[in-house]
Amino acid sequence: MKKHPRKVLIVSCSLNAGSRSHRLAVAAEATLKDGDCLTTLVDLRDYDLPMCDGATTYDAPAAKELAKMIAEADVILLAAPIYNYDLNAAAKNLVELTGSAWKDKVVGFLCAAGGRSSYMSPMGLANSLMFDFRCVIVPRFVYATGEDFRDAGELSDIVQGRIEQLCTEAVKLANGLAG
Ligand SMILES: Cc1cc2nc3c(=O)[nH]c(=O)nc-3n(C[C@H](O)[C@H](O)[C@H](O)COP(=O)(O)O)c2cc1C
Repeated sequence: MKKHPRKVLIVSCSLNAGSRSHRLAVAAEATLKDGDCLTTLVDLRDYDLPMCDGATTYDAPAAKELAKMIAEADVILLAAPIYNYDLNAAAKNLVELTGSAWKDKVVGFLCAAGGRSSYMSPMGLANSLMFDFRCVIVPRFVYATGEDFRDAGELSDIVQGRIEQLCTEAVKLANGLAG
């Protein structure tokens, strides 16, 4: 029986016009393009998302649109900057606004950071996704610092390889969970 192709949603969470984590998101999209899955890349810079107030902001059109895309995906790859030893506030705000749309998703992380020492920073959001929404976290993070980004646009071989591993593992996990 032919398997239904997994739907992968890549969310680029940096709001910085010159974002490096966005380059990780684009590389993940290019990696997945040739695979047996349906990939969509969304960029939070293009969405007018309010800060979650726990009340009325769930009705914002951008929040509803993103919640629908998340709910329809099998895999969500969050590409985000590390701010203050955590993912940036825009990434957490997205989760706050879209809540239960994350139920049972396979989730992977691609992070851009200023230095090497913040490598455990995705764990806070990863834990909350596991506890709140039973997400399955891909145990293989992409973590890139300035030296991994060349001026011409390419990524270091190590980071490029890690993106490929993350994408392969994420789709494999989703296929396995779908039986
Ligand atoms: C407010 C702020 C906080 C930051 N905190 C950290 C941090 O805790 N650890 C770290 O390694 N880098 C930190 N950085 C550096 C960013 O992670 C780095 O510039 C990264 O490239 C940003 O991703 P972006 O280019 O996709 O926006 C911080 C940057 C800003 C602006």
